[in-house]
Amino acid sequence: MEKYEHDIVKTMEIIDDSQKDEYANLFTSKSEGYSRIYPKSNEDLKTLFSGFDFEDKNVLSVLASSDQVFCSYYLGARSVDTFDLNFLAEHYYYLRKWLLEYKLEYYPDFKKYSSGSLWIRELLDMVECQSVEEEITYKYWNLYNKKIGDFSHKTIFKFCDYDFSYDLIVDDVSKMRDLIKDKSLNFTQMDITGNIKKRKKYDVIILSNILEYCSYELDRLERCRDNLFDMLEDGGEIITSHLMDFATIPTESYVFSAKFDAWEFPSDSNVLLGRGCCYTKKK
Ligand SMILES: C[S@@+](CC[C@H](N)C(=O)[O-])C[C@H]1O[C@@H](n2cnc3c(N)ncnc32)[C@H](O)[C@@H]1O
Repeated sequence: MEKYEHDIVKTMEIIDDSQKDEYANLFTSKSEGYSRIYPKSNEDLKTLFSGFDFEDKNVLSVLASSDQVFCSYYLGARSVDTFDLNFLAEHYYYLRKWLLEYKLEYYPDFKKYSSGSLWIRELLDMVECQSVEEEITYKYWNLYNKKIGDFSHKTIFKFCDYDFSYDLIVDDVSKMRDLIKDKSLNFTQMDITGNIKKRKKYDVIILSNILEYCSYELDRLERCRDNLFDMLEDGGEIITSHLMDFATIPTESYVFSAKFDAWEFPSDSNVLLGRGCCYTKKK
């Protein structure tokens, strides 16, 4: 079975199986790498990234909604490698890249597209694939439209209950389109808290509220800390965020303090969606 056929079969299994869906939502190793996708970041990235310099930096980021990747390039990153437990993040990245390239839109406008997933059909009709990866993703979304395509989008996208009313980093969509045109996606499906292959070091590593999902699992937290330590350049910075607890919880602080210094930001306690924690290597 080709990769895209496998993906779509797995997507349907997750959707139809409430237990698998629950595992996927908890981001456990049992999730089998398929989960619904946040169509846009649930965080205020402008606030979160405001204290960091991305200029000419090599970045490693969770892929998720793809916002972290687009924003890193927009802020001047030299290269951005990505990872996620969720295979669908890779397919969604290309949908967003095509939206930029062919329609000059940064996010899918779900309100405008009242005809549900038909917007994906319309977009696919405009696409000329530039790589094997794009061809695979094209086939994936083609099959999605035929086999799952729905009016609510809730089969595949995860919508947040609260409002995303924050300023965007990307304020010039043409500039974003031009920046991303020649960039190829470097994506690895992996659990950052697992036993992973570490090939490179990075100046900035972005974890988007991932640590909250394993905050009481000491072995996963410790493996994650060690993975990050090995992959971070001396002098590099890890940007994490908190959306459920709004602050670093004691187990995470305790585990990470063995190898990292930490500071929480911003100091304004009214900020909710952009709260974060930065880890740097202990000297
Ligand atoms: C809770 S979501 C946050 C969404 C994010 N703010 C965004 O912009 O889309 C966390 C993302 O990290 C991924 N993830 C969670 N735990 C992970 C882990 N241990 N290793 C790799 N990716 C993980 C999820 O699949 C999801 O894409």
